[in-house]
Amino acid sequence: MSNIIEQMIDHAHKALPSAYAPYSKFKVASCICTDQNNLYTGVNVENGSYGLTTCAEQSAICNMILEGEQRIKSIVVMSENNLLCPPCGACRQRIHEFSTPETIVHLCNATSVLQSLTIDELLPLAFDFNP
Ligand code: THU
Repeated sequence: MSNIIEQMIDHAHKALPSAYAPYSKFKVASCICTDQNNLYTGVNVENGSYGLTTCAEQSAICNMILEGEQRIKSIVVMSENNLLCPPCGACRQRIHEFSTPETIVHLCNATSVLQSLTIDELLPLAFDFNP
């Protein structure tokens, strides 16, 4: 496993306890590595009005955007139960927005990569807004 993936897993794992998931009890963390090799982490933030929940990938993307970056080279997603946590459909589209054909999504547990896929494998024929 490359050093950068180890770091991303470490960042996500350290962030997991901060996830706010009192309703589902399903904590999720994500860590983005940009084309500049900077890391941005996020966790899910639930709401009593369930539909207002923010996914972990979404909050990692917001943190990346806040720092002026827009290109995801790879992204780690993990949940507390250590099982595969594939991004939801909405987050696949959110990741696609800031991806290239080379962007890799690593589905991880606390210590290792369980499965790696391109965003195109996760979201074939993605919607692109080209006015
Ligand atoms: N969740 C994420 O954070 N990312 C995903 O891609 C799938 C779902 C969160 C949202 C909610 O807080 C919890 O997992 C259960 O759906």
